[in-house]
Amino acid sequence: MAQNIDQKFVHDTFPEPVMPSCPIVKDLTGQKALVTGASSGIGKAVAIALGRAGADVVVNYVSGPEDAEAVAAEVRFCGAQAMTYRADVSKEDEVQAMFKAICDQWGTIDILVNNAGIQKDAAFHEMTLAQWQKVIDVNLTGQFLCAREAVREFRRRGVRKEVSCAAGKIICISSVHEVIPWAGHVNYAASKGGIMLMMKSISQEVAPWRIRVNSIGPGAIRTPINTEAWGRPEAYQNLLKLIPYKRIGEPDEIGRAAVWLASDHSDYVNGTTLFVDGGMTLYPGFETGG
Ligand code: BGC
Repeated sequence: MAQNIDQKFVHDTFPEPVMPSCPIVKDLTGQKALVTGASSGIGKAVAIALGRAGADVVVNYVSGPEDAEAVAAEVRFCGAQAMTYRADVSKEDEVQAMFKAICDQWGTIDILVNNAGIQKDAAFHEMTLAQWQKVIDVNLTGQFLCAREAVREFRRRGVRKEVSCAAGKIICISSVHEVIPWAGHVNYAASKGGIMLMMKSISQEVAPWRIRVNSIGPGAIRTPINTEAWGRPEAYQNLLKLIPYKRIGEPDEIGRAAVWLASDHSDYVNGTTLFVDGGMTLYPGFETGG
């Protein structure tokens, strides 16, 4: 029996993964989007996916202007407008200046993707206040500050039905760790759990203004940072045990989910988290019956 269970986790006993190749349709033409932390990883993929869907995109970054410029160039290549903007999302004055610059330049904003996030891992008994605070500041307070500015602009402007059914859309990039506890990452899991109830509470409050607020909860996604951590074959096999769908996710898959949540296809979706995680939130420890 034990042997069968072990074999079940050898990934080549399952069908080869087939990756999605369906093109993104231009459902967001003319809409203005801000993606925070968009110079790499998931943010980069989301910015490019929104560009492919026809949205003009602001590529926010905090360091590495060249990387941000490269993302903006890819968005322009899709035929949309793009600009880069440096701002630390945890700083109120910088966030306010960023929204003012976007509205001055492009008139308004329709879509906010709250993506910027960091990890500062430590065993709990060794975690410093600085490690705790930095992660909460960027991951949680950063999303609050950006969402607040976006809601102010959405309320001011209201619905333009030729653009979208909604006055605005906010997509919070959360994590499976908004519901799955994560030992060794207490600050990160606390920030993502916070995002969950912040997102739901904002949604409840602003939905009457026809503002839609939702989250995406990514699982294990192949970003440069993660790929480093999964480098060893053994680490990779262990990771697959946590993923019923038996493959790592690609950043582009978060991009596709963001396009859907930003579009009118999902107009009746409010205050929910869409997990894009290959089933990681399905208690995979019970895959074999528990
Ligand atoms: C983290 C990844 C991790 C994944 C699943 C994400 O929120 O950023 O590093 O692999 O959760 O644990």
